Amino acid sequence: MTTAATPLPGPIDPPTRLLMGPGPINPYPSVLRSMSAPLVGQYDPFMTATMAETQALYRAVWRTDNDATVLVDGTSRAGIEAALVSLIRPGDRVLVPVFGRFGHLLAEIAERALAEVHTIEVPWGQVFPTSVLAEAVARVRPVVVALVQGDTSTTMNQPLDGIGEICARHGAMLYTDATASLCGNPFEADAWGVDAATAGLQKCLGGPSGSSPLTLSERAVEVVRSRPRVEAGIREDDDPLGAEFIRSNYFDLGMILDYWGPRRLNHHTEATSMLYAARECARLHLAEGHEAVLARHRLAGEAMLAGVRALGLETFGDLGHRMHNVLAVHIPSEVPGDAVRTELLEDFGIEIGTSFGPLHGRVWRIGTMGFNARRDAVLTTLAALGAVLARHRPHDGLAAPASEAVAAATAVYDGAGA
Ligand SMILES: Cc1ncc(COP(=O)(O)O)c(C=O)c1O
Repeated sequence: MTTAATPLPGPIDPPTRLLMGPGPINPYPSVLRSMSAPLVGQYDPFMTATMAETQALYRAVWRTDNDATVLVDGTSRAGIEAALVSLIRPGDRVLVPVFGRFGHLLAEIAERALAEVHTIEVPWGQVFPTSVLAEAVARVRPVVVALVQGDTSTTMNQPLDGIGEICARHGAMLYTDATASLCGNPFEADAWGVDAATAGLQKCLGGPSGSSPLTLSERAVEVVRSRPRVEAGIREDDDPLGAEFIRSNYFDLGMILDYWGPRRLNHHTEATSMLYAARECARLHLAEGHEAVLARHRLAGEAMLAGVRALGLETFGDLGHRMHNVLAVHIPSEVPGDAVRTELLEDFGIEIGTSFGPLHGRVWRIGTMGFNARRDAVLTTLAALGAVLARHRPHDGLAAPASEAVAAATAVYDGAGA
């Protein structure tokens, strides 16, 4: 047997990193602690009470009264797929405004759900003016508009206020991917008329990836409920069985709602440790205060911006529409971008990112989110980045000392009295 010759690995022992990229980030310590809490059975009263408690916490996070506020087990993409496959019937027209990689992802998932997909695009680094979205909705007459809020690939944040109303006026539902933006930037599910929204834990919510918070308006629930199907084996005689059922079992939001709702109808086995993590992320957010968390992200983003500018780096994209929690900066042409990231990781234990597609190798993305939207994390990152940059451009007169970057960021914090 070959297995006898394979040495048994030791217990898992990852290096300590400061994760300052576009996510995942270092979770809040209490989120990690919550994940080692004892497991209980699927229908233990503690379990069902914790599920209900978590739903209530996420209603406050999403700023909604939506009863249908749950977690989808899986990474953020699981939430996206559940929302789109449940809302889109084959042949439905879906409008996807694309301003980065994650818009393309929504189009790809809508296409797999057999939608008639219509895309509009702006160059990466920009967002859509409301008037352009309004014109496209009126022209395409979609059943669903699928729009990313914060596209992490470009770091841009699409304004959503008013878009729900435009969609409703034309009979369309608005779905939003708020994976990267939720809790670091304003999001108002009810006030903005959002019909469906999904997120992940590994950005501003400050948890690990693996759970996707999701909320559905009553209108969206009606669509899901109009496509009923309960699995054989647990189906009751009076359970309706339509022909237009949702073409995924795992991501059938009707069945997921029945599992989270009063029927507690068996579906998957809820990922208990992820439920604890998601609960703790939301609990921490609300304990600190919604506005306070947004302000902390805004301040960390401004401090990072001041710091990278002090280093002589140029930012990417329309700064007026950037997310607070992640900043893209151009990699100077004379600097080896990947070598800088490797040195940051190996010498300082700090991770920053690059981006995808047309921006791969052209920008670094530096995140300040969740637990890491902190003064010390910002200053440490700037000090390290300045030190590494100085190695690569010692004589060109562009590289300011790391201390200037730290001073610029410190001034932002001190100016805010933080
Ligand atoms: C805006 C956005 N949407 C979707 C995803 C996919 O998330 P996940 O990797 O958790 O499935 C990401 C991941 O970075 C993201 O930033």
